[in-house]
Amino acid sequence: MAHNHGKDDWTDDERVQRMVKSYNVRYDDEFWNAFELLTNRDSRSVVADFGCGPGLLLADIANRFKAHTAIALDESDQMLALAETYLKERTELKSIDIQKVNFDAEKIQVDSDSIDFAFSGFMLHEVASPSDFVTKVYKLVKSNGICVVYDFVSGNEEMFAKTMSEHGMSEEQARKRYPHMCKHSADDIVEILEKSGFSDCRALIIGEIRAVVVGLKR
Ligand SMILES: C[S@@+](CC[C@H](N)C(=O)[O-])C[C@H]1O[C@@H](n2cnc3c(N)ncnc32)[C@H](O)[C@@H]1O
Repeated sequence: MAHNHGKDDWTDDERVQRMVKSYNVRYDDEFWNAFELLTNRDSRSVVADFGCGPGLLLADIANRFKAHTAIALDESDQMLALAETYLKERTELKSIDIQKVNFDAEKIQVDSDSIDFAFSGFMLHEVASPSDFVTKVYKLVKSNGICVVYDFVSGNEEMFAKTMSEHGMSEEQARKRYPHMCKHSADDIVEILEKSGFSDCRALIIGEIRAVVVGLKR
């Protein structure tokens, strides 16, 4: 087991703003193309984002699936405040549920079998036990609901260092952070979803350093 490089501080203003500014880079056309290939356009009433950060993806997802309820979950007050603002500004949602929760230590206050679409972006590598976390998410998803996990993946440190340095991180810093940020391979994430109960799990790898993984709750 690789050494856990310690939790990142997601309350720092500069980091919060960096998440906002980099949204379109992190959720670029390649991401949406993969997302499109792995999901369909059926309406999904209740959407949730675990580790939603500033909530920009959740707003886009809510609009895309014509949702009436969005559940934004994160442990950072700063992130949740932004998520509330963006969800109000950018969507016509009937209900916005903002929940402060640490997935490692607290119970998630969401009804079992209530979520049609669950998402988690750049978060899986942050939780203490990915299997425990995805197992919790599985319980909250409805039958026929889906879960999408999007994260950096291991396998090509060179490409990670190159790509991150093109986006403003020093190459040295990227190499130092590789074991933490690229903790799992795409196959690992598929296995985590399968072991948590999801079926029909599939992954698409983007640029060798990111993967979008989907699972269905039967
Ligand atoms: C890299 S940011 C990604 C934010 C957002 N998903 C995005 O892609 O824009 C990771 C987020 O996960 C949250 N997070 C990390 N570990 C968490 C935990 N154990 N419980 C709840 N939230 C957590 C952080 O507060 C942060 O907002």
